[in-house]
Amino acid sequence: MVTKMVDLRSDTVTKPTEAMRAAMANADVDDDVLGLDPTAYRFEAEMARITGKEAALFVPSGTMGNLISVLVHCEVRGSEVILGDNSHIHIYENGGISTIGGVHSRTVKNNMDGTMDIALIEATIRNPQWDLCYPTTRLICLENTHANCGGRCISLEYIDRVGEVAKKHGLKLHIDGARIFNASIALGVPVHRLVQAADSISVCLSKGLGAPVGSAIVGSKSFIAKAKRLRKTLGGGMRQVGILCAAALVALQENVGKLEDDHKKAKILAGRVYYPSGHLLLVLILSSICQSRYGLNQIKGLRVDTASVETNIVFFDILESSKITVEKLSKVLEEHGILVIPVSSSSIRVVLHHQISESNVQYVLSCIQQAVLGLPVENAPK
Ligand SMILES: Cc1ncc(COP(=O)(O)O)c(C=O)c1O
Repeated sequence: MVTKMVDLRSDTVTKPTEAMRAAMANADVDDDVLGLDPTAYRFEAEMARITGKEAALFVPSGTMGNLISVLVHCEVRGSEVILGDNSHIHIYENGGISTIGGVHSRTVKNNMDGTMDIALIEATIRNPQWDLCYPTTRLICLENTHANCGGRCISLEYIDRVGEVAKKHGLKLHIDGARIFNASIALGVPVHRLVQAADSISVCLSKGLGAPVGSAIVGSKSFIAKAKRLRKTLGGGMRQVGILCAAALVALQENVGKLEDDHKKAKILAGRVYYPSGHLLLVLILSSICQSRYGLNQIKGLRVDTASVETNIVFFDILESSKITVEKLSKVLEEHGILVIPVSSSSIRVVLHHQISESNVQYVLSCIQQAVLGLPVENAPK
């Protein structure tokens, strides 16, 4: 019998908090398609302020946020976008920029850390003198943090350099910042500085920040004016949307500060020593405590690239020498209330969020260890 649920499939699985539900119930609302919803207005103003951009727009999902952003930057037919071959836009968004926007994708290989070589990006930009044959490059997209690369953070220096390349060639820069707050916290760089070089960013409120629904896109006033029309075209104009924006505002107030904890839990789970910032003595004491614990990487038969665990996502591999398979381990864990996502025949992804406690992490570690050793897995007490 399952005694406890630990849902590590994604940070999208969080349930709205009591404060979010109360804010939704009490939200001051009106018709947002007519531009009259006061809570949507407040949320959009707050997102523009946090990201240092002129304007913002609430959209139902990150996918729609990216789609709208690419379509606004690539409104002329025959436009081309440069994006990572392992990026969310390229892999998981139904090719919407092509099927709906007629935008041509040109991929550049993503490195393990989520970046693309800047020289390769530059070499991929089409020569406008040959536009009789070539599509016209108009946009570069980055993703921060990079989900498929294990939640790796893209550094400020790198983004600024890509921004310079974009500017030099008259291109726009969009950042899929579904988890930009995670990157900001992990890098210690405020969001507005991290995205300064970008012309637009999409930011998810329904991932680590825990809101039930929604993303924002931010950019210049003229970008957002066009985005608003496109949102309506796509069926994303929502009437009393302030109900959702009220929860998103609570997510900004309550949960940004919790992301550091999620990163810490991910590192403990992975088996990477976690060094909190602060007093040296405290660092030494805590690091010795952390070192005495085990994580996935210390379990025989498993492997984690612990150095790559920078935020709230952990990928771990099951070695060929192990007695257990991905399928079997996922099944055993599910029987014990632990949900994970197998990503290949040898690899599993887990994502930490604010509704996973440190004791949950210890429970997960002990279940995985027992399962990998082939021992009977005990349920945790309720
Ligand atoms: C990096 C990244 N971008 C965009 C999205 C799309 O967000 P949504 O699921 O809200 O459409 C996701 C969703 O997981 C994501 O991980």
